[in-house]
Amino acid sequence: MRKPIIAGNWKMNMTPTEAIELVRALAPLVKDAKCDVVVCPPAIDLSFVAEAISGTNIKLGAQNVHWADKGAYTGEISAKMLLDLGVKYAIVGHSERRQYFGETDETVNMRAKAAIAAGITPIICVGESLEQRENGVTDAVVTVQTVAALKDIEAEQVANLVIAYEPIWAIGTGKTATKEDANATIKVIRDAVRGVFGQNVSDRVRIQYGGSMNPKNVSELMSMDEIDGGLIGGASLKADDFSKVVNYQ
Ligand code: 13P
Repeated sequence: MRKPIIAGNWKMNMTPTEAIELVRALAPLVKDAKCDVVVCPPAIDLSFVAEAISGTNIKLGAQNVHWADKGAYTGEISAKMLLDLGVKYAIVGHSERRQYFGETDETVNMRAKAAIAAGITPIICVGESLEQRENGVTDAVVTVQTVAALKDIEAEQVANLVIAYEPIWAIGTGKTATKEDANATIKVIRDAVRGVFGQNVSDRVRIQYGGSMNPKNVSELMSMDEIDGGLIGGASLKADDFSKVVNYQ
């Protein structure tokens, strides 16, 4: 009953010229997709990609969004600016932002709220480090991150947003969580949502897996009950690979 959503996080890859080429190649390959298809290019590519995907089933996502409407925040981009370009989704709280750019549970929450207020769907990222997994605190970590990210957001809005479970040790490493582990941790996240917002909301919120998801492992991951899609890094940078992920059987 939850429609799967597969999103490509291009991270800091693709010049505007390369971005246009990639989505032009991608569009015909994913036109019959049964899931929601999203690409999240670097901010500088957004307007070019918006034009190139016009009239296709590919939706546009940003990789970040600031919490203020406007003002003295050098280097940041507001939800209103993104909306003006036709952006529908914004990744919030990716582990790379938490690790390298000082993102905290609190700023993740502020960014998510700003996106929602503007009508942009946040894709909120949570996930444990290798050390945390080895110490057996994965469930506690993702629960705290999830509850903090959703603080003061209304239940109906939570039902309509997207959460991405991305174990940090699986990102860009070629190591994928087993389908059982991914499913179990996503269930923990869904239970955390249920604890605060109730069963109806937790049944509806879509939770993706991310971390070395690719054409080879997508089918088995997507066969699991709790996994509602993927947030794809490396494999989203080639039209052929990403289309194979999107068109998983
Ligand atoms: P990879 O698919 O390259 O492991 O990246 C996952 C990710 O971080 C998506 O946001």
